[in-house]
Amino acid sequence: MSPSSPRVTRATATFDPVPSRIRSALLTIDVAAAPPPGTEALGVPVAAGGDVPPIIGVDRARLLESGFSGALGQTLVLPHEDRPVVVAVGIGEPGSIDAAGLRDAAAAFARAAARDGVLATTLTDVAGVDAAEAGQAVVEGVLLARYRYRAFVDRPGEAPLTSLTLVATGGRGRSVRSGAERGRVVADAVQVARDLANTPATHLTATRMAEVARGLGTEAGLKVEVFDNAALVELGCGGLLGVNQGSDEPARMIKLTYAPRKRDGSPARPRGHLALVGKGIMYDAGGISLKPSDAMHFAMKQDMSGAAAVLGSMLTLQALGCPTMVTGYLMCTDNMPSGKAMRLGDVLTIRGGKTVEVFNTDAEGRLVMADALVLATELDPRPHAIVTIATLTGAAMRTFGSALAAMLGNHPDLVHQLEAAGARTDEPVWELPLVKAYRRKLDSAIADIRNLGGENAGTITAGLFLEEFTAGVPFGHLDICGPMMTDSDDGWRSIGATAFGTRLLSDLAMEFKPPKG
Ligand code: BES
Ligand code: ZN
Ligand code: MN
Repeated sequence: MSPSSPRVTRATATFDPVPSRIRSALLTIDVAAAPPPGTEALGVPVAAGGDVPPIIGVDRARLLESGFSGALGQTLVLPHEDRPVVVAVGIGEPGSIDAAGLRDAAAAFARAAARDGVLATTLTDVAGVDAAEAGQAVVEGVLLARYRYRAFVDRPGEAPLTSLTLVATGGRGRSVRSGAERGRVVADAVQVARDLANTPATHLTATRMAEVARGLGTEAGLKVEVFDNAALVELGCGGLLGVNQGSDEPARMIKLTYAPRKRDGSPARPRGHLALVGKGIMYDAGGISLKPSDAMHFAMKQDMSGAAAVLGSMLTLQALGCPTMVTGYLMCTDNMPSGKAMRLGDVLTIRGGKTVEVFNTDAEGRLVMADALVLATELDPRPHAIVTIATLTGAAMRTFGSALAAMLGNHPDLVHQLEAAGARTDEPVWELPLVKAYRRKLDSAIADIRNLGGENAGTITAGLFLEEFTAGVPFGHLDICGPMMTDSDDGWRSIGATAFGTRLLSDLAMEFKPPKG
């Protein structure tokens, strides 16, 4: 391959956020009473019982013979003489589908029609799901299923999506449209977060991450502040600086601020203040506690998935009219071994003065987040809650696999709000207890705390470590180690980074109320 060939050029390029935005800009989303001329594939819901819609063209018996029962997420492509192709999309027992089911059904349709760019569907017209929720879920399902990380490869067999028409009748049109607009905002943000997490570590450094956050964040109405190593020294961020020590790439702390505004642009009184902290390890080699070279570790370029989810969620806030004030911290650096790297037994001083003895340099996420937690507690106005999101412990993945995030918190109302946001967005979380008795496993003989809690209950001791820096502010934590990626296409999750947590945190901010009690 010649040095000027496109492949080489692209392979040496840094992360370019433009592809996602072009993707979205080229896509027309419309709401109409019928599929428009030119539709290439039409997705039609078919329940597991009751009448088969006439447009399917065959009866229940023929569908069953072809192996299509109408189970949720099943599809059957029915070619016709003239276009469009009709895709039967299973929606389960009649009347049983909800918004999450609709998102999955829409994703299944989009995958079944992977060769088509002009899609229409009557999934938005199913009875029993609120029209706005249906519009949002269907747009999210289609866009997220068709997501591909295309920076390094062309896929001739897969058509880019150019047009999506949502069919709505009986006065549902307006609501479907407003839901669809929200769905597009949210899906765009998820695509950015996925692009960031899928980008190889050499292409997406902490410096580049800050540039991307500045560009996209500013465009989305956020205040963006970037702190380099000198600024981090000034702030006393010894956790982030300690982890960064072994890396040739400098660290970046990115602070994002969203403040709600009235229609005329003047500041609105926020309904509450929520702080978010994302782990942004651009590559986790383990540091001196070097990880073994097994294949799993190709995923360590995605150890910034928490930071990507915070950025992605905050990109939606202005467009969705979020009433909550939100401050986000992205704590970005590699974790590398080198002659300059932090050593076992070193003591780091976190922002605010607490000291940490480093027992394992591979437990780095909690170190970089500790500085941000302290900074968050110092904000004016003081946040009503702080939520951390991180690919923190392999133990969370071994406990819950890839379907659920582990969630820990020290305030029942906040825990409840996190569960509710997870349920509404179908990014489910499951609570683990912050067992106070385990705090002593983090005791150090020479510092305030150590960064390793021993063999067992690793997800819980990591949560206890983080809680140490929250100064009594209600605290919630999402360990997304398991659901951050998928090794095959699965509903709205496309192979690679899922951007899990992006939609959950956006929803949490939208619905947030200062925790009571
Ligand atoms: N980034 C890893 C956790 C991880 C593992 C994420 C696999 C995604 C996939 C984290 O920094 C880490 O190394 N955790 C250690 C903690 C231990 C040293 C206390 C782990 O889980 O083994
Ligand atoms: Zn890590
Ligand atoms: Mn690690």
